[in-house]
Amino acid sequence: IQWYPGHMAKANREIKEKLKLIDVVIEVVDARLPLSSKNPEINQYTWNKQHILLLNKADLADPDVSQDWIDWFKKNTDIQEIMLYDAFDRRHKTELVKQIQRLNVKNKAQLKCMICGIPNVGKSTVINSLIGKKKTQVGNKPGVTKGQQWLSTPDKLMLLDTPGILWPKFEDPLVGLHLAWLGSIKDTIYEKENIAADLLKYLVAYYPDELEVLYKITLDDKNLPEVFDAIAKSRGLLLRAGEYDYTRTSVLLLNDFKNGRIGRITLERP
Ligand code: GTP
Repeated sequence: IQWYPGHMAKANREIKEKLKLIDVVIEVVDARLPLSSKNPEINQYTWNKQHILLLNKADLADPDVSQDWIDWFKKNTDIQEIMLYDAFDRRHKTELVKQIQRLNVKNKAQLKCMICGIPNVGKSTVINSLIGKKKTQVGNKPGVTKGQQWLSTPDKLMLLDTPGILWPKFEDPLVGLHLAWLGSIKDTIYEKENIAADLLKYLVAYYPDELEVLYKITLDDKNLPEVFDAIAKSRGLLLRAGEYDYTRTSVLLLNDFKNGRIGRITLERP
């Protein structure tokens, strides 16, 4: 993610403008980081809209913690619908369409929907899941604002073809770190080895069994550098005799995490 104040102001204006046309805002966050991947200001835009929150990539998240998050959002926000979502699961899509239609309180013939979220949370995949194979452009019809491209879905929804891009809460350093764990922020900002060390610390605290199984190590009372060494040793990541390769071990850990090999993991708790 590369954001500058100018970008943010522009995105802000664009979303506000587009939202004038919208009945239902479908906000997408990453279920592994439901708060860090959420734009804190979106509620300002959605107070007079129907608002659905999708905790997407739920297939990669820890199911127990996901349920805690659902409860937390229900208690602490006035978002109408909060759903765990896997954008590749057709049953989830069917359920989402049902929920959208349930929010059609004014009985409109076609509800206009917009997908919003920060980069990389799965907005395009969610759009594709709703559209299915039938990708019909329905822009420039009378009554449809010029320049906006709308897609009609088989379930009689109108979907804005471009997602609304939001930005994360940059002021919070922890948010930056969390997004770096997911690979959503360029590594040049946070150094790989530091990111990996912080991730490992979290995994040792919350997911020790998963680490032991994947890397065939025992954690016992090892401190963090010792766990790093154990992983490097187990995978034969040596720089030279007696010296482990921390860069390659960091990359290994981050990739194993990103690809779900460590297991279903959630990186923050309510
Ligand atoms: P930007 O274009 O950067 O704003 O990204 P986006 O929010 O449109 O995300 P995109 O749909 O491109 O998805 C990002 C990555 O996440 C892709 O590799 C998708 O395949 C993956 N992805 C999206 N949804 C899911 C999901 O529910 N589960 C899993 N496992 N992967 C998903």
